[in-house]
Amino acid sequence: MSIASNKTKKSEANRNNQIWSWWPLFPLYPYGRKRTIFKEIVANQIWSFEQLQGIYYVAVPIRLIVAKIPGGLMLYNPLPPTKELLKDLIELQEKHGPVTDIVLPTASGLEHKISLPSLARSFSKATIWVCPGQWSFPLNLPLSWIGIPRRRTKVLSQDGFPHPDICKWTSLGPIDIGLGRFQEFSCYHKRSKSLFVTDALVGIESKPPDLFELDPTPILFHSREIGCQTLEDTKEARFRGWKRLVLFASFLKPYKVSIPSVFEVLKNSFKPGLRNFKSHFGIYPFSWEKDWEDSSRDLIGSTKPLVQVAPVLERLVFPRSKETFLNWLSKISQHRDMKRLISSHYSAPVTFSKNDVNQLRKSISKKNWAPNSGNWAFLDWVDKKLVKLGVVPKDPLKSFRD
Ligand SMILES: [Fe+2]
Repeated sequence: MSIASNKTKKSEANRNNQIWSWWPLFPLYPYGRKRTIFKEIVANQIWSFEQLQGIYYVAVPIRLIVAKIPGGLMLYNPLPPTKELLKDLIELQEKHGPVTDIVLPTASGLEHKISLPSLARSFSKATIWVCPGQWSFPLNLPLSWIGIPRRRTKVLSQDGFPHPDICKWTSLGPIDIGLGRFQEFSCYHKRSKSLFVTDALVGIESKPPDLFELDPTPILFHSREIGCQTLEDTKEARFRGWKRLVLFASFLKPYKVSIPSVFEVLKNSFKPGLRNFKSHFGIYPFSWEKDWEDSSRDLIGSTKPLVQVAPVLERLVFPRSKETFLNWLSKISQHRDMKRLISSHYSAPVTFSKNDVNQLRKSISKKNWAPNSGNWAFLDWVDKKLVKLGVVPKDPLKSFRD
């Protein structure tokens, strides 16, 4: 058999191991094929699985965290259990014991809950722990209707917590966001001195995530100035594309981007070399101003990840409840020996100590929280619209006080 034929067979096998058939339930990029990166974060204690997830090439890493607990392993934040992911997880089980607990620590993060039923089926003896106040959209269905096994499911706080002797669980929220509640439980894994969070905090850096080494198409797509440019793969193009992608993911419509007329977009589309799905046939409906990069400086760390509250969270979830966020940070600052933050999005691990938490608290206390101009203008418009329509309550804590 030729080397070429062997290579083709190997790549087909890889592709088959990355298939995720349930993607139509929540059709996020990269749809039916989820490439996974497996990493050991703390030797013999903490591991992570990363996949990409997003909308129309605005894709960022999403992470499942595996923690060593007495007698086995605990999974924090589900991911689609492709064959590729399960292979490494099964190897971990052989070395460290069975998966005994699967935790969905968020009430609102649809992107985290969508794969819980499938992951629960893969580990049929594990106890499932879910954040209270689960809700689904567009229909609010009971957990068992969406495939989460009732018999072995417990609710965090109401039914206790998994491994409270080695894990300190802290609630951020709940707050009312209209369609349901926002709440998540962070977990401080004492042995590894690591703080696990879902969406509460992220660390963003200028270097594109490793996942784009497997397929840089999304960041190359965003690196262009105009649709008729081919997807040029250089280090500069990758860094430029990643920064722009982060601006989109953070602000939905960044300040320094405009949308050209349909005529202008079509004029630059369908050029030779671009007539394929990968380059979206040259359709690129964005135009960046020359100084666009300046608008990413407060968002993206140049030499190390910048730890922050994600702008979407600050402006759309917590705009009227900054104190709730500060209270959570205050509780987190009690982990005196904390060394690292492992978030379920963007970079991980990120160096993060008690001092870093206190500095973050100070800067949030002083800053103009949930601003409404520059990059924040579009999020501000969305929030005001939702409040005006009555979708989002003006007082997000009222329903939990009554
Ligand atoms: Fe999330």
